[in-house]
Amino acid sequence: MLAGKRILLIIGGGIAAYKCLDLIRRLRERGASVTPVMTRAAEELVTPLSVSALAGEEVHRDLFDLTKEAEMGHIQLSRVADLVLVAPATADLMAKMAQGLAGDLATTLLMATDTPVMIAPAMNVRMWEHPATQRNLALLRGDGVRVVGPEAGDMACGEFGPGRLSEVPDIIAALEAHFNAGPLAGRRVLVTSGPTHEPIDPVRYIANRSSGAQGTAIARALVSLGAQVVFVTGPADVAPPDGVVLHQVETAQQMLEAVEAALPVDAAIFAAAVADWRVDGASASKIKKEVGKMPTLSFAENPDILATVAQMKTGRPGLVVGFAAETDDVVAHATAKRERKGCDWIVANDVSPETGIMGGSENAVVLISDDGAEAWPRMGKDQVAERLAQRLAEALG
Ligand code: CTP
Repeated sequence: MLAGKRILLIIGGGIAAYKCLDLIRRLRERGASVTPVMTRAAEELVTPLSVSALAGEEVHRDLFDLTKEAEMGHIQLSRVADLVLVAPATADLMAKMAQGLAGDLATTLLMATDTPVMIAPAMNVRMWEHPATQRNLALLRGDGVRVVGPEAGDMACGEFGPGRLSEVPDIIAALEAHFNAGPLAGRRVLVTSGPTHEPIDPVRYIANRSSGAQGTAIARALVSLGAQVVFVTGPADVAPPDGVVLHQVETAQQMLEAVEAALPVDAAIFAAAVADWRVDGASASKIKKEVGKMPTLSFAENPDILATVAQMKTGRPGLVVGFAAETDDVVAHATAKRERKGCDWIVANDVSPETGIMGGSENAVVLISDDGAEAWPRMGKDQVAERLAQRLAEALG
């Protein structure tokens, strides 16, 4: 899928810049050509010589290079590519992009280009979470910039959290998804998945048996149809799919925040098994056992994420799909749930233990929409996902 594609790779000045060397190799292995551009800061972290050696092309560094300006002006350089990839996209570079600054070659190219732009942010977790960066991210998304990552994990600066550059295979998968001209190309779809964990104290939590298998399969199916997928997942058993914008959360409240940050989207599928309640006033320290004395937990209601999004007055996704996990009167309960929550479709399933659906590899669902209830035969969760993704593509047109 990447064969013959021209990628203009803008390397920003983050510690993660070294990963670009591997990225360039992998892109070229897949038949893509890479035209590298480095910011001044990037040159402090990787040498232009290594970059050009791997790219097989010289590195573009200067805005005012008269020889090059005569050969190929920066406007032209920005337009010959099929895609401009910024990796790592530092907080500084994102801010400049969001504001339309064009003080050096990299930012000038980003302003001048008429080709799609994808960024792979990487920065310290506090910088990523800073309201300024989140504001810039929202602006960039609004401008149609595609975003891959960042991932959560240990960071070079010794902190932990979101901010790590996506792994090279994930960046490649996002690029492949972009170039895969499936029916959902250019569409942005949100998927929630997995259980949530609601803390009792720092070591104990309340959870449910959701494995995340169905939500993950749906995200994968949407990616393979060309969608840009924002995948918001609780602590699931199954690994998250490749090629999605990944947000890993624990609690229902964090899931709601991640969902709201991901909007606007064309469609949203809420496959997560969100805990309806959290422990009110979870203890900051471990609750000690006292012989003969039972702790009493009191609960507070969690936000209903699906209902919140389905009932949004402005910015509601064009298609909102919920799941209904029921153990009896599946269609009746799910039909009522669709009304109550205000979503367009409900995918209802019977999660009674004897069905083996929760945590299993198969699912038997009923799709409830304005057109009534449509029972699908029992099939693998992957097939349910493919069918649902196909239906979604048809509905979005
Ligand atoms: N859901 C959500 N936020 C919640 C609870 C549920 O987004 N706090 C979403 C789920 O992702 C799913 C749908 O709502 O798409 C239905 O979830 P379900 O657990 O079946 O419904 P509940 O609202 O919890 O109703 P009940 O427990 O009474 O069946």
